Amino acid sequence: MKYHIVTYGCQMNLHESEKIAGILKETGYLESAPMEEADIIVFNTCCIRENAENHAFGNIGALKKLKREKKNLLIAVGGCMVQEEGKAKLLKEKFPFIDILFGTHNLFELKALIERKRMQKKAVVSLLEERGETEDGITPVRTSYPNAWVNITYGCNNFCSYCIVPYVRGRERSRRAEDILREVQALVEAGYKEITLLGQNVDSYRGEDGTTFPELLDRVASVEGKFRVRFMTSHPKDFTEELVAVMKKHEKICKHLHLPVQAGNNRILSLMNRRYTREKYLEDLAILRREIPDCEVTTDLIVAFPTETEEEFADTLSLVEEADFSSAFTFIYSPRTGTKAARMEGRIPEDVAKDRIGRLIALVNSKTREKSARYVGKTVEILCEDFDEKKGMYLGRDEYGRMGYFCSDRDRIGEFVDLKITEANGISLYGEEA
Ligand code: 5AD
Ligand code: SF4
Repeated sequence: MKYHIVTYGCQMNLHESEKIAGILKETGYLESAPMEEADIIVFNTCCIRENAENHAFGNIGALKKLKREKKNLLIAVGGCMVQEEGKAKLLKEKFPFIDILFGTHNLFELKALIERKRMQKKAVVSLLEERGETEDGITPVRTSYPNAWVNITYGCNNFCSYCIVPYVRGRERSRRAEDILREVQALVEAGYKEITLLGQNVDSYRGEDGTTFPELLDRVASVEGKFRVRFMTSHPKDFTEELVAVMKKHEKICKHLHLPVQAGNNRILSLMNRRYTREKYLEDLAILRREIPDCEVTTDLIVAFPTETEEEFADTLSLVEEADFSSAFTFIYSPRTGTKAARMEGRIPEDVAKDRIGRLIALVNSKTREKSARYVGKTVEILCEDFDEKKGMYLGRDEYGRMGYFCSDRDRIGEFVDLKITEANGISLYGEEA
């Protein structure tokens, strides 16, 4: 029996799909296969913005025909969208052919849900409100070699006013430091070359014995072996000099900080409930760069938050100039039912939002190109992670997260390779082995 998993959204979801694959294997589905050949199809959904939901809705709807042709096919839909208030009901009504619906807190019982569905005709729906414990005991089927994702926290307590995550992923829970370290050690011994610590807000990690995030990072980077350490996501309100000191201390920690700023104007930041100012953010970047001059910073930006004026948007543009980001993910504000911002007046018309994001993307891209061009002629170490069939080239990332492409006549996946950069194109670099 074969499975097929469709994943939407962030790294957290990608890693959760690896856990879903682990459960499916235990349940008797032995290998991953294209959708048409699968005996079970699982959708792991996202609800961070409306377009993520629309994608999932479209693709689930398209399965109707396959389900009619293949009587024994099981269709399961889980993840953030299912956990959203009223969405499970809506999905059930719209797509009566869905066999199993499970929320973000129900992953551990997926095996039982599948077994229950095999015994009954009716759809199985399971949605838990909240789940306290953090050890799920699931062995993931990792698909991202040479990188391995490791959860350190689940959930979020920040309630940024635009964000639905705290509602669908529940209150923040930290894993035990000992469990995290044991997992990292085993992964490094198994040959993984990059460990990415995952949490909605890694900085607020608190181990059972009071271990802070910088302390945890220090311990993870002290594990023996040649590998890299990354972490995401950091919240500017929790930026500390201790974090910078640990990043500086360990060569293993990538000199890259993803620090979502969201907006450049203090009134908007306050409405977003971000709890820092533009000035504080820039001061922290100055500390980071004073201590680690080659550190690169990337960010997330939202345009057209309710009531954002043209002048306030211009503050985001000027912040992008000042902060010298290497790249940024840019989003148009998307109202999410249940969040505070969704109840605010002053929605920005779509044409204005589109105009703003267009200008922002143009600026971000020009900064990215400018930064990448500086690498031409230099040598960077990349960790080879894949082969691009179309380009006929191997690819990997440098410690800053830039993609480097090169040719090789043997398999290089999982190796650290020194590349002399000959060409830069956007965030991608092209080079030859040095
Ligand atoms: N609308 C637009 N962007 C959002 N993000 C989170 N919620 C929303 C929303 N409602 C963005 C933020 C966050 C990233 C993961 O997604 O920039 O950092
Ligand atoms: Fe959402 Fe803010 Fe939590 Fe990030 S920190 S998941 S943006 S509420």
